[in-house]
Amino acid sequence: MNEHRRRDRLGIHSIGEFLMTVPSLDDARRFYGTFGLDVSDEHGGLALRTHGNDHVWGRLRAGPHKKFEQLTFHCFEDELDAMRRHIEAQGVALLPTPEGAPAGGLWLRSPDGMLLQVRAGAKTAPDAVTHQSSPLPLDGTRCAPYRRHASLVQPQRLSHIALTTSSVPAQMDFYTRVLGLRLSDHSGEGVAFLHGAHGSDHHLVALAASAGPGLHHLSWDVPTIDQVGLGAITMQAAGYTDGWGVGRHVLGSNYFYYAQDPWGSFCEYSATIDYIPAAVDWQGLDHPPEDSFYLWGPDVPPAMFAYSEAGAWA
Ligand SMILES: [Fe+2]
Repeated sequence: MNEHRRRDRLGIHSIGEFLMTVPSLDDARRFYGTFGLDVSDEHGGLALRTHGNDHVWGRLRAGPHKKFEQLTFHCFEDELDAMRRHIEAQGVALLPTPEGAPAGGLWLRSPDGMLLQVRAGAKTAPDAVTHQSSPLPLDGTRCAPYRRHASLVQPQRLSHIALTTSSVPAQMDFYTRVLGLRLSDHSGEGVAFLHGAHGSDHHLVALAASAGPGLHHLSWDVPTIDQVGLGAITMQAAGYTDGWGVGRHVLGSNYFYYAQDPWGSFCEYSATIDYIPAAVDWQGLDHPPEDSFYLWGPDVPPAMFAYSEAGAWA
C-alpha cells in the first residue's frame, strides 16, 4: 500500500503548473533568475523550473497586463475519470480544451472565473518533510560559513500558490468540495489555507481576500532560514528592494521573505513549513486575525494588501 495516498479521499494531490501573462519577459527573466529559478526561453515565452529539476512550474507569456491566467493541478492517473464524474456531479461544467493547450485533462473555471485544469501527473508535493536544520554550535567549530562562501540560493520546488479573491468562502467551498483540497486553517473570511488530499505542505493553495482574482504570491521552498535570509539580501542587492520579511508565519509556521515582483505580486522564500502527511486527519480551525498572519517580522508594507490584477479581469 502506498502510505502517501488515501483511498478514502478523492482529490488532487499537487500543483502542476501555472500560466501567467506579464508585461515584460525581459523583466521576468531577470527577476525570476535573480530569485534563483531556472528560467528558459520556450515557445515564445519563458518556462520556470527549479535548478536540477525538469518539472516546469510555470510558463510566462507577454501581454499588456499581468494576469494569472491558468492553474493546473495533478491527480493520480487512475482517479482522473472519477474526478471527471465528481466535478460534474458537483454542478461544475467541464470546458473544451482551450486553443493551443495540449490535449488531455479536465478544464473548468473557479467561481472567480480563473481557468483551471486537472490532469494526471507526477506528485510534485513531497511525501514527507524535506527540511534540513542549520548546523548548531556543538563541537567548538564555526557554524556560519564565511560570507564569501555563502551559497547561491536556489529554491528546490514550488511549495504553494496564494491567490487573491473577492470571496474567500466561495473559493474555499469550491477548492474543497469540487477539487478535494482540504482545509488547513482559516481566519474568518480573510484568508484560508488548503492542503492536498494525499500529503502536502500545510498549504498548496492559499486564498486571500482582495478586490478580485489573481496571484498574490508564489512560494518557493528553501531548506533553511539561512537560505531565506540569503535570498532576501540577494534580491535587495540586485535592486529588488520592495518586499516583506524576514519573519515567521503562524499558520504554516514557515519562515518567510517576500520579494515584490515587477508587477506587484510576490515571490516568497519559504523554509520549514508545516507538513501534513496523508495519514493525518488535520483539524482545520478558524483563527482570530492576530493569530493568522505572522509571529514575528517587520511591519507589513501596504503593498502586501494591494490588488495587483486590476484591469486584467474586466
Ligand atoms: Fe506563502
